[in-house]
Amino acid sequence: VSLKLYVGFFLLHMLSLEQSLANNSSSFPSNFFFGTSSSAYQYEGAYLANGKGLNNWDVYSHKPGNLIVDGSNADIAVDHYHRYLEDIDLMHSLGVNSYRFSISWARILPKGRFGEINEAGIKFYNNLIDGLLLKGIEPFVTLTHMDFPQELEDRYGSWLSPESQEDFAYYADICFKSFGDRVKYWVTFNEPSFQVKFGYQAGTFPPSRCSKPFGNCTYGDSEKEPFITAHNIILAHIAAVHIYRTKYQATQGGSIGIVLHCFWYEPISNSVADKLAAERAQSFSINWFLDPIIFGRYPQEMQDILGSILPEFSTTEKQKLNKGLDFIGINHYTSYYVQDCMFSACEPGPGTSKMEGYCAQSSQKNGTPIGEPTELAGRNVYPQGMEKIVTYLKDRYHNVPMIITENGYGDMNKPNSTTESLLHDVERIKYLAGYLDALSTAIRKGADVRGYFVWSLLDNFEWNSGYTIRFGLHHVDYETLRRTPKSSATWYRNFISQHIAKD
Ligand code: NOJ
Repeated sequence: VSLKLYVGFFLLHMLSLEQSLANNSSSFPSNFFFGTSSSAYQYEGAYLANGKGLNNWDVYSHKPGNLIVDGSNADIAVDHYHRYLEDIDLMHSLGVNSYRFSISWARILPKGRFGEINEAGIKFYNNLIDGLLLKGIEPFVTLTHMDFPQELEDRYGSWLSPESQEDFAYYADICFKSFGDRVKYWVTFNEPSFQVKFGYQAGTFPPSRCSKPFGNCTYGDSEKEPFITAHNIILAHIAAVHIYRTKYQATQGGSIGIVLHCFWYEPISNSVADKLAAERAQSFSINWFLDPIIFGRYPQEMQDILGSILPEFSTTEKQKLNKGLDFIGINHYTSYYVQDCMFSACEPGPGTSKMEGYCAQSSQKNGTPIGEPTELAGRNVYPQGMEKIVTYLKDRYHNVPMIITENGYGDMNKPNSTTESLLHDVERIKYLAGYLDALSTAIRKGADVRGYFVWSLLDNFEWNSGYTIRFGLHHVDYETLRRTPKSSATWYRNFISQHIAKD
């Protein structure tokens, strides 16, 4: 009897598993993109090869006393520049149908618009794009992922000057012209809110400006500079979109968007004040960029709080700022509780300021953190955040198409970590499964999400954390640069094969 019961339970279990897979598969549209994500500075290495110019991160990471915890740099990184064919093979064995990477601006234009085009750079990306297409992998290309030619910094202070808009437009035009016959998905900027907050307020990213100088950080007007640089970035985005739409889109038939870092901010209580604080937190990160690009104006909360600190758009600029994207790229990793401290007597949390609208990012509610803490501070696992952020953006921006351009799990590379333990990455699998499930729920409820990219294909250089944090589906041995699939690579391959439409 017990054997019969056991077999019965087993069959029931299999049935419900299959049903849930079937339900899930219907939540991902048949033309859905599953891919992995990367960026030029974090992957390519070859930092002076074949005519590439120095970029802001090359210079920053070479300065003694910089804020990269292991004192490393990405001169070699994971040597994707020389190993891209091997990496395409890895993607092919994962079964992905897309790959998100960025172009190194300084590899194409070593001196910005003040010098020649580096033909060797064009050739490298032509080879990469052709190699991907040959394996049926759609290229998603980011024009700048935190890096730009140092020349622009030295000449006019990069994003602090409106001149940066002209440089970006010039560069974008070259990329559309050179690669747009094959690239159908373009991203202008990656996580501009981080770029300006870290670069011009915290001072932890180049050009490393901050209100109180420390280490390599130099004094800057951190009350104003993040808003000036963001303004120039928004206008640079719009200039590139304008060029794409007027010169290329009709013939090339692609689409163009921007990628934002999207935390989910959960109000710590049901009070109106905490809900408004969470809304302000979104305004000072995502809506800061998307409202101008889509609606032609900054969010009301920012205008109210910042007054004349917030730059204004001229009449001509306003005319160009209207539905200035075809899709929103979402980088989502984690969530925070948010507590009001504008109307109630609480101190803003560490690192929060006028920029966040006076709300504290609180880590605990009644002593309990949001989601499950991980080894990395500020990276709690809260899969529901994925459904909530996608739904929030769907509602606010009238369900404009969205793409999850990054989502992933980082491991600390501790002194006692063994390759074996890093390869057996069950926590990463749990994380990805949970977030993909939450994403499929959002899609089932009507969100127009077109793709999902894991950060990242390989372990790589993680900015201020250097090589101490690993995000890859593949382990990289930094001595030999050997790539080895982790358990999560096998898991992702199986997940994709169950959910991707077969021709
Ligand atoms: C977002 C950034 O775009 C990427 O460069 C970074 O490595 C990942 N998050 C992981 O932190």
